[in-house]
Parts: sequence; structure tokens; C-alpha cells
Amino acid sequence: MLNELAERLLPTVVKQRLDAWGESLHVMAQIRDPRVMASLLPSALRGLLLRRGKQGVPTVVAATHAAWFDWSYPHDDPRLADLYRRAKQGQWDGDELPWHLDVDPENPERPIFPSGFVDWELGRELGISLSPKEQTKLVNDIGAWTLAQFLHGEQGALYAAAQVTEAVQLMDGKFYGATQVMDEARHVEVFSRYLESKVGKLYQINDNLFTIIDALMSDSRWDMKFLGMQIMIEGLALGAFGTLHALTREPLLKELLARVIQDEARHVHFGVVALRDQFTKQISEKERTEREDWAFEIAMLMRNRFLAHEVYDEWFSGGKVDRKKWRTFIERAPGMEYFRLTMFSRMVPNLREIGLLSDRIRPHYERVGLARYFEGRAADRLVAEDLLQEAPPAGYGGPIIGGAAA
Ligand SMILES: [Fe+2]
Ligand SMILES: [Fe+2]
Repeated sequence: MLNELAERLLPTVVKQRLDAWGESLHVMAQIRDPRVMASLLPSALRGLLLRRGKQGVPTVVAATHAAWFDWSYPHDDPRLADLYRRAKQGQWDGDELPWHLDVDPENPERPIFPSGFVDWELGRELGISLSPKEQTKLVNDIGAWTLAQFLHGEQGALYAAAQVTEAVQLMDGKFYGATQVMDEARHVEVFSRYLESKVGKLYQINDNLFTIIDALMSDSRWDMKFLGMQIMIEGLALGAFGTLHALTREPLLKELLARVIQDEARHVHFGVVALRDQFTKQISEKERTEREDWAFEIAMLMRNRFLAHEVYDEWFSGGKVDRKKWRTFIERAPGMEYFRLTMFSRMVPNLREIGLLSDRIRPHYERVGLARYFEGRAADRLVAEDLLQEAPPAGYGGPIIGGAAA
């Protein structure tokens, strides 16, 4: 009764705001572990309800971690010392990318995103009927939105890497961490330059992404920061970059992503090496269980939460298509399915490798269809070439992807 009344009397904009809040509450209600809920709630309030990421410049996030000094300069982890050496040798200059190439997102020969990224037949069923020209434009906007989220995520990675460098309790880890700070600055540089000079559009940060970044930046526990940044966010980044690298036919972006993926593979490797000892030898079983639950809940939050609502607001907020239909359209997009597959095939084996995939938690992953990744290769056994050579499975991203992953 109340719902019907609200449906008839409230202006569209208010209804949509209420719907968005309802969605946020639904996201939080899905978290079953009260400790995880308590640790994420302040960030969720700032990100999902107050929408701090969308309130203009600057956004200030308070940090509460401790900087760890060691005046004896020990050589305390040869594996991290080796990663540091490799990271120094792997540095590259963003100016070297072929910036002279013209990028025309409307060129059907070299699209940034293939039109088969979404399912147009499903779109028609949901009332999203667009002319071929509008379809191209909408897919381009979803592409611009995705790249903007990469950029915002990279800004988060830059500051998180700086925090991790301060907080990590290994000197070799600090040296390595400093190279990651440089890597992330370069990623911000190249994504920002690409969006500014080739795409010409910058979408705001997605509220869910802001919430996760806020939670990492403000958590005082160094190993939680590490877990969130180096395993979860980097796993997400590798999934997203790998998907777009395989699907895009725009040569400058393809080259840019190939370079960035090489750096990101090192970052996840660092997380696995640094956290394995910590979680399997240094902390209590109770603390390990908490981290295991936290990782599962964050993985679930990531799974279906990047739904391009900022694009929806721009295209359909007049009420022609409601948010629920848009959610279905994006959730069931073949490109999004491929992204989830790539992301979890990276993340789950890494969680196993650092001791966060015990027999206690495995049934939860099984329940959401992720058991097939239990035995996959973890980051310390993968090199960047493995990540770059993977082609998308048939049917993901439509016919245009044939040969695109070469
Ligand atoms: Fe990065
Ligand atoms: Fe990274």
C-alpha cells in the first residue's frame, strides 16, 4: 500500500534515490559476519549513503596505521629482495606509449569496447531499445566509465601502496613497496592521459569502489590493508585489465594495458609472498578466521557491484528504464561474466596460497560457484606472459573479439 502510494506520488528523482539507498542496504545486509560488518560499516556509510566520492574535490580519508621503522636495516626476505630487483629492471616510461595514434571510439574497426560486451537482445526485452548509433554510443560510455574506474582505483592503489610501504614490517618489503608506489603513479599518469586526450570524458568514482578504497585506507591493521590492496583490489584489477586487454581492438589502449598488467602481476606476487607467512605462521586461528571471512565478503561485494550506475544516471534517469532493469542488463552482460571469471580465477588461488581457503570456508565459495578455481595457479607461479596470452572464451564480448587477444 505504502509502496503503491510512493510509486504514484513521489517524483522520479526521489524514487530513484530511495531505490539506490535500498540497493545499498541490500548490499550491507548480505554481509553475514558481524565483525566484518562492523569493520566495513563506517566506510559504507561514507561511500554508499553520504556518497563522499561524489562531493567534489578534495575527499579527505583519515589514516590510522602505524609507520614501522627499523634502524638496523636487515636483509630480511630474499624473495622480496628479488622482487625489488625485478621491479627496478621492469620500470618503463609512460611517454614511450604510441600516443600519436588517433583514437576514434566510433570506428568499427578499432572499438575500445566491442558492442557484444552487452546483450542487446536482453536489452530489448528489458525495454532498452536503441538505434545502432545509440548502441555504439552507450557501449562507448560504458567503456569510458570502466576506464574512469580504473583511473580512480589506481589513485587508491597509489596511496595504499604508500601506506603499505610505511606499515610493512620487513625492510626488503619497504624497498619493494617503493617501486610499487612508482608503478601506481605511472598507472594514474597513463590512464588519466588516455581519458583526457583520447576519450574526453571522466566519470565520477563508483560508490562501491569508493567504499572499498575508504575501508582499506582507514583500517589500522597492516595485514588487512595488505590483504585488501594486494590480493583483493589487485586481483580485481588484473581481472578487469585482462578482460579489456583481450576484448579491445584499439591498439594504444591494448599496449597501455599490456604494460600495466606486467606491473600488476608483480604487485599480486608481492602480496602472496608477504602474506603467506603472516597468515599461516604469525597470527592466531581466530585472527586468521576473521581475515578469511573478510576476504570472502569483500569478494562477494565485488562480484556484482560494479554496475555502471553513473552511466545509467546519464542515459535513463528520466524514468524510461528503471534501475532494476539496468542492473539485470549489466549483470548479465557477456563482457561482465567474462570479467568475473577472470577476476576469480586469479583471486581464489591466491587466497588458497596465503592460507585463507580452509575447509571451513570452502563450502561458501562452492555455494556461489567458485569451487572450480580452488586448484588454479597462484600469482607466484604465474608470469605476466601467462596473463597476456589468455583469450576470452567463445561468446564473451560477441563476434568482434575473434583474434582480438593476439
Ligand atoms: Fe596499478
Ligand atoms: Fe597495482
